[in-house]
Amino acid sequence: MGLQNCTVAVVGATGAVGREALGILEQRGVPAARVRCFASARSAGVTLPYAGSSVRVSEIGEGVWKGVDVAVFCATSGVSKQFGPGAVRAGTWVVDNSSAFRMDPATPLVVPEVNPEALRDREGPALIANPNCSTIIMLMGLNPLRVRFGVEGVVVSTYQAVSGAGAAAMDELSRLAADALAGRAGEPKVFIEPCAFNVFSHNSAVDPANGLNVEESKLIHETHKIWNDRNVRITPTCIRVPVYRAHSESCAVTLRNPASETEVRAAFDGAPGVSIIDDRAGNVFPTPLKAAGGDDVLIGRIRPDPAHTLDDSGRSRHWCLWICGDQLRKGAAQNAIQIAEMVWRN
Ligand SMILES: NC(=O)c1ccc[n+]([C@@H]2O[C@H](COP(=O)([O-])OP(=O)(O)OC[C@H]3O[C@@H](n4cnc5c(N)ncnc54)[C@H](OP(=O)(O)O)[C@@H]3O)[C@@H](O)[C@H]2O)c1
Repeated sequence: MGLQNCTVAVVGATGAVGREALGILEQRGVPAARVRCFASARSAGVTLPYAGSSVRVSEIGEGVWKGVDVAVFCATSGVSKQFGPGAVRAGTWVVDNSSAFRMDPATPLVVPEVNPEALRDREGPALIANPNCSTIIMLMGLNPLRVRFGVEGVVVSTYQAVSGAGAAAMDELSRLAADALAGRAGEPKVFIEPCAFNVFSHNSAVDPANGLNVEESKLIHETHKIWNDRNVRITPTCIRVPVYRAHSESCAVTLRNPASETEVRAAFDGAPGVSIIDDRAGNVFPTPLKAAGGDDVLIGRIRPDPAHTLDDSGRSRHWCLWICGDQLRKGAAQNAIQIAEMVWRN
């Protein structure tokens, strides 16, 4: 159902995800008069462009929910914990982009194309969690295979855009790239490593006990929750690359049942929210630049894993994929607004 008659608040409207959310609401035809923008006291009074006019940013507070039907939270986990439950009590549906409630057993964690059943018959208002960006993009690529053949496990390596760390990280890439090209030694502030002309292990904290960083743990635990399957084996390595927006992921997937290449490719026919770019002759495949700004997650390099032989019928359980998706859109704002469209009943 459309959001045109819904009053929508964007919390964290000045950030990378918040601005993207405003752009999507504008594309969906939500009039400026029905959009409320909130951020911290730092941004109170700032105006943001919207649908040929502008919307004013107010400081978030407890008493702002009157008349707000849906709030899309795009700020910190702390802000979601502080204001999310109060918004629900005031009668507002909340879709939360932060990690604050994702693993709460009572909170649905939803990718609309993957587990819409998590929202079925749900009475509201309630808080719905939007998954981690890398998780959404990986599951958009793997879910069509899971539906047809089952998925036993995946080895996934990510190539994550700096904008996954927010607007300040995009500024840091511009600044450090300019410094490097001018022969100056720039100082990183957002990341501990220089992000220009460099790749490095994901900036989230590493668990000293198991060596996984937080992003890798999210890929595992959120996938288990969304697929409602704790047996799927996930081997993640999460890496930052000097790309402004759109994450890429190399996946080596083990299916439960063997499939031929024709069958694997057919699994993506008509799958919502994905497009195939897989031109072996031209060496043309998905890239983050092709995914940036688009709604679809792009899939290519579909091939049998050469470490395993095909069976006599030409089938294998072991397949490789290359996936690119705009993590500010499908990995965050767009997925959240799709959820808002599902829960909002006019
Ligand atoms: N970036 C991604 O690709 C991505 C993907 C999935 C999920 N997420 C999640 O989405 C959320 C936003 O990420 P982002 O990348 O957009 O970050 P960002 O660019 O740093 O923006 C953060 C936003 O939160 C607001 N904010 C910070 N502290 C606040 C406070 N105390 N009260 C009210 N507002 C406050 C900021 O407002 P001010 O301008 O006033 O500081 C800003 O609008 C995070 O929870 C992040 O984990 C991000």
